Amino acid sequence: MGLKKHIRILQELGYEYLYLEREMENTVEEKLKKLEEINRVIQECKKCDLHKNRTQAVLGEGNPDSRLVFIGEAPGGDEDKQGRPFVGRAGKLLTRLIEATGHKREEFYITNVCKCRPPGNRTPTPWEMEACFPYLRQQLDIIQPKVLCLLGATAARAFLNRHVAITKERGSVINWEDKLLYLTYHPAYVLRNPSEEMTLFEDIKRAIQLAYS
Ligand code: URA
Ligand code: SF4
Repeated sequence: MGLKKHIRILQELGYEYLYLEREMENTVEEKLKKLEEINRVIQECKKCDLHKNRTQAVLGEGNPDSRLVFIGEAPGGDEDKQGRPFVGRAGKLLTRLIEATGHKREEFYITNVCKCRPPGNRTPTPWEMEACFPYLRQQLDIIQPKVLCLLGATAARAFLNRHVAITKERGSVINWEDKLLYLTYHPAYVLRNPSEEMTLFEDIKRAIQLAYS
């Protein structure tokens, strides 16, 4: 029965008021509001030295209700300028591969372990990743995804706290707290090794299947 019909029946029964209860905690608007609060905090954050060279911190973007979150390393030059994750060359490849699966980039949430660009796009240090990790954790607490697709060895290391040989470990699914980690290549690696593009594509497809199965 549709909602309108329900309401009409209630009216006929003499109801004049209808109290609609909704779980504010879980609405998309509420999630977006909480994510925006984190954004305000990171724009002022000086917990690690990466704040010194940033134009702005980059929180992430996408569907706050997504069951799958893509996680990279840190913003690069384009991301630092635009304030959005994965919008440079590597980002365009990621977007193209997501869309090749028949999905849209906006269906998922995309972010990074570190929210500020390292100088010269160097790899963030373990300390910088540790300093920034609580923000990622807060994001995940809000979004509550099932699967985290970790793009590259650095993102994998941030979660597993050990060295990761990504060419050996890509494609593996690892339990992490109440979520699943899906390890794959960083799209920048695939730009340097174009023969691996199909592998990254298949991994993205599998991560999506895992999240929605
Ligand atoms: N590389 C990353 O790891 N993250 C971005 O957002 C862009 C490039
Ligand atoms: Fe703060 Fe993270 Fe930026 Fe470091 S990288 S200054 S911890 S927001």
